Amino acid sequence: MAEQEASTPRLIDRAAQPEDLLESIRPRTLDEYIGQETIKDNLRIFIDAARSRHEPLEHSIFYGPPGLGKTTLANVIANEMGVAIKVTSGPAIERPGDLASILTNLQEGDIFFIDEIHRLNRAVEEVLYAAMEDFELDIMIGKGPSARSLRLTLPRFTLIGATTRIGLLSAPLRDRFGILNKLEFYTEAELSRIIQRSARILAVDIDFDSALAIARRSRATPRIANRLVRRIRDWAQVKHNGRITPEVVDECLLALTIDQLGLDKVDKKILTTIIDKFNGGPVGLDTLAAMISEDPLTLEDVYEPYLMQLGFIDRTPRGRICTTAAYQHFGKTPPSSLDVPGTLFQRD
Ligand code: ADE
Repeated sequence: MAEQEASTPRLIDRAAQPEDLLESIRPRTLDEYIGQETIKDNLRIFIDAARSRHEPLEHSIFYGPPGLGKTTLANVIANEMGVAIKVTSGPAIERPGDLASILTNLQEGDIFFIDEIHRLNRAVEEVLYAAMEDFELDIMIGKGPSARSLRLTLPRFTLIGATTRIGLLSAPLRDRFGILNKLEFYTEAELSRIIQRSARILAVDIDFDSALAIARRSRATPRIANRLVRRIRDWAQVKHNGRITPEVVDECLLALTIDQLGLDKVDKKILTTIIDKFNGGPVGLDTLAAMISEDPLTLEDVYEPYLMQLGFIDRTPRGRICTTAAYQHFGKTPPSSLDVPGTLFQRD
């Protein structure tokens, strides 16, 4: 990152930071969990059905941009099912033996949660197939001519996978999940409720208008909303006797260089680079990433989804383009070719 110290996480970074994992403000039940209504309605039925049959829940996968609550939902499911959850991530399981030691320590019905499941390596993934389908584990004992294969029977468990990149999952792995859920961005009303709930738990005084003002600048993402609440709480405590008002929100976010739509310096750099250096685009992902000194995958997974949700960026086969709305956000005049059918900017 060019303008930022590597050691200081961005305020609107979607990656989880230790303070985001504070248990107290995380919802524990489906009723406490705000938003994602369709997913919750379906989960209630699947959980009820599995519980009444005394069976584990089907293997499930949650996908979507970071910060929308995939890990939280996995914990909520474990709590609603009344089972334990073992949490790990794709890159942390390096060898089939690592997987074997986790799976053989699960109890019947437990949840095994793998974050970033698209980053599992091939050898581990192949051992996982039989574990998911037949609750059996084939492992090799020893090496060379004396090596032999051992088959272990596992407790029936539920695998919950989370990924920001469902397209990178291999078809055999994806097909072994019975429940697939795409998490959607949150509405301002939902984020306001999340903010009010978090403020209540953190014992901060916040009015409706302030909650809405924070919601509008949270990039439709609860993780960011909760982080802003904590920063604005600090600001209010030190400078305004602890009360959060819309003026305090504005003052704090101005100081943090977060604009009216929740965009920060990196977002602005992405948009102004496309507009000023590439005349609105199209520009390829790798070129754009190099221009703003970001990793292409981070650009694609972390920044672009919200810019696309705002309708500021479009992905075309020839690269990224900025829309009229992006130009207007910066008070710039779009080129006359923009949005006119049959021009350079037309989507194929
Ligand atoms: N905190 C983070 N995400 C939440 C959600 N969806 N509902 C309630 N609190 C949350």
